[in-house]
Amino acid sequence: MTERRLLIAGNWKMHGLHREGVALAAALAEKAASHQSAHGPLHLDLLICPPATLSREVSETLAESVISVGGQDCHTLERGAHTGDVSAAMLKDAGCSYVIVGHSERRADHGENNDQVKIKAAAAHACGLTAIICIGETREQRDRGEAMAIVGSQLAGSLPDEANASNTVIAYEPVWAIGTGLVATVADVAEIHAGVRAGLAKALSDADAVRVLYGGSVKPDNAAELMELEDVDGALVGGASLDADDFWAIAATCL
Ligand code: PGA
Repeated sequence: MTERRLLIAGNWKMHGLHREGVALAAALAEKAASHQSAHGPLHLDLLICPPATLSREVSETLAESVISVGGQDCHTLERGAHTGDVSAAMLKDAGCSYVIVGHSERRADHGENNDQVKIKAAAAHACGLTAIICIGETREQRDRGEAMAIVGSQLAGSLPDEANASNTVIAYEPVWAIGTGLVATVADVAEIHAGVRAGLAKALSDADAVRVLYGGSVKPDNAAELMELEDVDGALVGGASLDADDFWAIAATCL
């Protein structure tokens, strides 16, 4: 089995004014640095995805840190008359190295479908960003027994041709577990992640090396059992990433 380096990613969503965002990033940088000076290099990747307004500031705050910065969404195009949108090139220019695409809140609030997510991921790749492609079923779909089928079709439909283990991360986030405090059972997560890996194997030659994160109410008290699962390669953390101690405690379950 390929050894995959874990990734713990924080998605701040639409939270964070300048002062608090910079303070949160600085607090995390401090925790990472003190861990490194006590124990040596971190054996996992850390990422925070602030709102686009803070990308540059947070990148500058983390300039000396191992923590990377990502965007939360990008447009399909590099530039143009698209009021209010942000391109992958702009995120890159502001210091980002990752971008989340296809988050369920984008799919729900902005009607994004797999085709658009795929083009966004390709746009991210074109300017050197790693795309974190989000997939996940709704409660109704799970209750109808369709979770695996939905996740499989989102995966197949959202992966661009050039995707590979170095430019793509998958995040499985059951929609009903996001921001609700409800977490999928360990058995359900294991089953879906195994299915995602099988789906990746059909599409990519280096599928075994692709990281597949779990997201949805990951907290310090449930992270360890989820991160232990063989096919779970990290977490995409929303609410708990807004607190430096909580986010660090989640990361620490993998250190
Ligand atoms: P949550 O969000 O941790 O607040 O459930 C996760 C996400 O939406 O990425």
